[in-house]
Amino acid sequence: MLESAMRGAEEAGAEVETIHLYDDAFRGCVSCFACKLRDNRTGGLCAYRDALTPVLERALRADVIVIGTPIYLSFPTGPVRSFMERLVFPLLTYNPETDPETGEVRSSLLDRRVATATIYTMGCPGEMMAECHYPEIFAENDRFLEMIFGYTESLCTNNSYQFDDYSKYDVAEYAEPMRARYREERYPDDLRRAYEMGARLVSKAREFRE
Ligand SMILES: Cc1cc2nc3c(=O)[nH]c(=O)nc-3n(C[C@H](O)[C@H](O)[C@H](O)COP(=O)(O)O)c2cc1C
Repeated sequence: MLESAMRGAEEAGAEVETIHLYDDAFRGCVSCFACKLRDNRTGGLCAYRDALTPVLERALRADVIVIGTPIYLSFPTGPVRSFMERLVFPLLTYNPETDPETGEVRSSLLDRRVATATIYTMGCPGEMMAECHYPEIFAENDRFLEMIFGYTESLCTNNSYQFDDYSKYDVAEYAEPMRARYREERYPDDLRRAYEMGARLVSKAREFRE
């Protein structure tokens, strides 16, 4: 899904880079609050330095950020949550400003808009998502991206075909035929939507620059 989104962005003229968060060991926010000190010079970059620092630096320079995450135990994965904590929290001000004309409250230190998106992949069938509270969980994640970056959207794909050979695994409950059918009949459409989203985010980013 992420590869399709990247291809869509690339074919719309963007220079793209994919970073796999599982390649490096890094921490989530350690509550040092360096980013909340009076007159701090962190400039929205998390002050805690580890393998994630160069990734955060690149994210802060990007015009488009697409996060791809499988759903683990109902939430985006631990590394994605850690990345979000360290990307979003330093850009989140505890001194929000209210625009006197519009009444809009600005909680972001970022002085520009960035087109962001999240792709959620999961085993859960689409029709069970509401029962599992996924719409609310994903909306919370999306809300922070919207608040900080000023634009976000998201995509889901369901019934992920988790195993290369189902006969090797002890997963009777996991309905291989239903997943195989989804992969054949519906997944190509999900990939197309991811591709289109990649292209759309690039045109949004161009709009934000004007
Ligand atoms: C540790 C773990 C926990 C998981 N928990 C959930 C879950 O709560 N809900 C769900 O729908 N799928 C769950 N899954 C299935 C993954 O979401 C699925 O394997 C993933 O979307 C596949 O994505 P990929 O094809 O991009 O690797 C879990 C998988 C693992 C390994």
